Amino acid sequence: KQNSTIASAVVGVPTNDISTFYKNLHSKFNQTRQRTLSLCQDLQPEDFVVQPMADVSPTKWHLAHTTWFFETFLLVPYLKNYKVFQEEYNYLFNSYYETVGKRVLRTDRGNLTRPTTEEIYEYRKYVDNSLSLFFEELIKNNEKNNFDSETEAEIKKRLFIGLNHEEQHQELLVTDIKYVLGNNPLFPAVKMPIEDFTIFKSKKEVENIEDKKEDFIKIKEGIYQIGFQSEDKEEFYFDNEKGVHRIFVEEFEISKNLVTNREYLEFIEAGGYQNFNFWLAEGWDFVNKNKLKAPLYWFEANENWFYYDFNQKENGLQKLDLDAPLCHVSFYEAEAYSQFRNMRLPTEHEWEIANEFFEWGKRWEWTRSAYQPYPNFEKDEGALGEYNGKFMINQLVLRGSSEATAPNHSRYSYRNFFHADKRWQYTGIRLVK
Ligand code: AVJ
Ligand code: FE
Repeated sequence: KQNSTIASAVVGVPTNDISTFYKNLHSKFNQTRQRTLSLCQDLQPEDFVVQPMADVSPTKWHLAHTTWFFETFLLVPYLKNYKVFQEEYNYLFNSYYETVGKRVLRTDRGNLTRPTTEEIYEYRKYVDNSLSLFFEELIKNNEKNNFDSETEAEIKKRLFIGLNHEEQHQELLVTDIKYVLGNNPLFPAVKMPIEDFTIFKSKKEVENIEDKKEDFIKIKEGIYQIGFQSEDKEEFYFDNEKGVHRIFVEEFEISKNLVTNREYLEFIEAGGYQNFNFWLAEGWDFVNKNKLKAPLYWFEANENWFYYDFNQKENGLQKLDLDAPLCHVSFYEAEAYSQFRNMRLPTEHEWEIANEFFEWGKRWEWTRSAYQPYPNFEKDEGALGEYNGKFMINQLVLRGSSEATAPNHSRYSYRNFFHADKRWQYTGIRLVK
C-alpha cells in the first residue's frame, strides 16, 4: 500500500486501478528513456566515446550503464526466461556494485571503442522491449499472482530507483558532454534540449511584499525537523534523505539570491585567487597546483571574459553573462568567496529549513555540511545498499538542483554529494550571514 502511494504520486495516477497504474508507469518509463536519447540528438559519433578526465564518463557508457541497471536489478531477477543481451556487458557497464562483480576501471571507460554506439542503442531497445513484457506481466499479475505482495513491493521500489537513476545519469550526461566539448579548442555548440530552469517560488515572496526588498531572510533559532517527511509528501525519495530527525539551529540569515558572475568577478579582480587569507589549506594547494584563476569554462581574452556553454547560438564561446548565476566552482572556491564577503556557506540543515523562502533550482548549492548518514540511516538491502551509503566519506552535501537536472527530479530534502574539488557539475553559491 505504502509503495503504491509513493508510486502513484510520481506518475500522478490513483492506485486503486492497478492496471492503469502500471500502464501510466510504463509510459512514464518510455518518456524518461526517450529523454535520455533526446539529450544525444545533436551529438556526432566521436562525441560519444572520449573520457577527458576520470570524473567524466563517455556518453555511450551512460547510455549502456542505465540500461544495464534495469537489466541487472529488474529483468534478470524478475522476468521469466529473460536472456541477457550480452554476458560481457555486466563487466563493462557495472559502475561500482561490488555485490554484482568485477568491472572495467572507472578511468578506462573511455577505452571502450567497442561495443559500438550503435550496438548500445540496440541494447537499449532490447531492454526497453523486455521492460514492456515485464510491465505486461505486472499487469497480468493482478489476476494470476505471479509475484507475492512482498516481491511486488520490492519490484515497485526498484522500478522507481531505476527511473530516478536514469534521471541522475541524464544530468551526468549533460555535464560530461559539456566537459568534452568545453575542452575542445573548437568549442563546438550543440543543441541540448534541457528545459527551462525549475524555479521554486518562495512563499514569503507571494505573501509578504515588505520582504521583497530584503536580500536576506532571517530564520529564528529553534528545533527543526530534517529529512524527507514521508507522512505528508507522497513521492519517491532516496535512502540518504530518509529518517526524519530534529536538530537545533541558531538564528541565521540566508540570501534569497545565488551569487552572480558579476559578484564573483569582484572576488577575482580583488586578487581572490592570489590571497591565501580566503582559502582553506586544501583549497589553497588546489588553486596553486592547478594554477586556477577563475571558474571552469571561463576564458579571458583581450581583457574580456568568455564562457563556454554548448547551448549557444553559433560558437560555444560567448561573452560572459554578468547577471547569470555563477556556475562551475569547487567547494574550495565557494568557501573562499564566502570568506571574501565575510559570510559563510549554509549548512545543509539551514538550507533545508529555509528552502521555502527563496527560489532555487538553477544551481546545485554547496553547503558546509559533510555528507554523513542521518542518525537513523538505514541502507537498502543487497546490491542497492551500495547506491548511496558507501559514499558517505570525504564528500560535501549540495542542495537544490540545476538547469541540467531532469524535470521534477529534486526536492527540498534531496542530498547531492561531491568531493570538494569538483567543478564540472552545475555548482553555485548561496551565502549566509
Ligand atoms: C548523486 C550524482 C553523486 O554521480 O555517482 C549515479 C548519482 N548514483 N549512479 C553519482 C548516481 C548512481 C551520483 N550522484
Ligand atoms: Fe549509475
